[in-house]
Amino acid sequence: MQFELTEQQRMIRDMARDFAAKEVAPQAAENDRLERFPADIVKRLGELGFMGMNVPEQYGGAGLDSLCYVLAMEEISKACASVGVIMSVNNSLVCWPLEVYATEEQKKTWLTPLAKGELLGAYCLSEPNAGTDAANQQTTARQEDGHWVINGMKNFITNGAHADVLIVFAQTNPELKHKGIRAFIVEKTDPGFSVIHKEEKMGIRSSDTAQLALDNIKVGPERVLGEEGTGFKIAMSTLDGGRIGIAAQALGISAAAYEAAREYAKQREQFGRPIAKFQAIQWKIADMALRLEAARLLTYKAAWAKEQGGRYSEEAAMAKLAASEASHFITNEAVQIFGGNGYSKEYPIERHFRDAKITEIYEGTSEAQRLVISSMEFRK
Ligand code: CAA
Repeated sequence: MQFELTEQQRMIRDMARDFAAKEVAPQAAENDRLERFPADIVKRLGELGFMGMNVPEQYGGAGLDSLCYVLAMEEISKACASVGVIMSVNNSLVCWPLEVYATEEQKKTWLTPLAKGELLGAYCLSEPNAGTDAANQQTTARQEDGHWVINGMKNFITNGAHADVLIVFAQTNPELKHKGIRAFIVEKTDPGFSVIHKEEKMGIRSSDTAQLALDNIKVGPERVLGEEGTGFKIAMSTLDGGRIGIAAQALGISAAAYEAAREYAKQREQFGRPIAKFQAIQWKIADMALRLEAARLLTYKAAWAKEQGGRYSEEAAMAKLAASEASHFITNEAVQIFGGNGYSKEYPIERHFRDAKITEIYEGTSEAQRLVISSMEFRK
């Protein structure tokens, strides 16, 4: 076991840190306030190779390992968690299933431009009645004259209003339950595709989260992703990688809040001395540092497990659970250390606090992560 980063991993982390500080952080507060989608930053992420980090170079990606992706996600999310989730969805939830399940032709058509950042992707699993119960897909796909006709509604879709390409899950045979689900590639220009509603959110406000209507969308066989009966497995295995990305996003939010609180505690004076001199603050700093480091180790281990080639559902669930709950704890304590200033929009702490909450909900709630962990444990 060794805990040193490779030269390449350090280089990617430093490149992401530099870009985040110079180009992402200066816009973060204003984009959050205005709920403004950071299109210029997303374009730059593509130019830097950050939209398809693990995709092989032959398909337009950067060909980097999973830890490079985690390190970059952490740095970008530290500056702006909204940019983090836009990047995470494109990398983990769209490029990854295309890389693993798409045909050569599909890879050329969709994966390459998505990995280069020329197109933006979204992942459409959630529905009004299929949140944690993801197998309960009400969106249907029926065969008609050699085509598929897709009908349904998708909810809480990150990048939904801006995506060019969408991975859509639909039920093809309800009697088969989850084994009847298939995955399809839909384009925003397909007749019948529309954005019904954009969510107004507590946090990650400059990323877009949309409700989508799929109204008799007609697609050819070249738009089916994977074999018959494999859609649910594609959805779940994709989320394993997605959860590592969200864990990294939570690490970035935590690191931003923790470091700001630590520095504030050294400067802020009450009762004639810096508040860092009080044990009440020292214990908070210790607990925050401990939880951040523990979550980071689990997240890096999950990235390592993904590289090993076997199933890594449990490592990914543990990383996401630990990192998201740590970010809830750490951002809450950071607000407390900042006191009234932590509650004010003058400082970024309240944004980190609002952004942290979603990491306990999307790509599987904390309760769903506990289900995954316990089901893997009982198999031992
Ligand atoms: N990899 C491969 N196969 C998997 C798998 C995985 N990670 N997880 C499950 N499967 C397979 C199982 O082996 C099983 O296969 P068989 O039928 O052949 O035995 C099949 O899938 C069904 O598995 P389960 O019985 O465990 O499925 P379940 O319906 O009981 O679900 C669950 C369990 C943990 C609750 C799961 O549904 C789940 O993770 N729910 C949360 C969904 C989620 O994360 N939604 C977020 C959507 S994305 C998002 O947030 C939007 C965004 O844009 C960011």
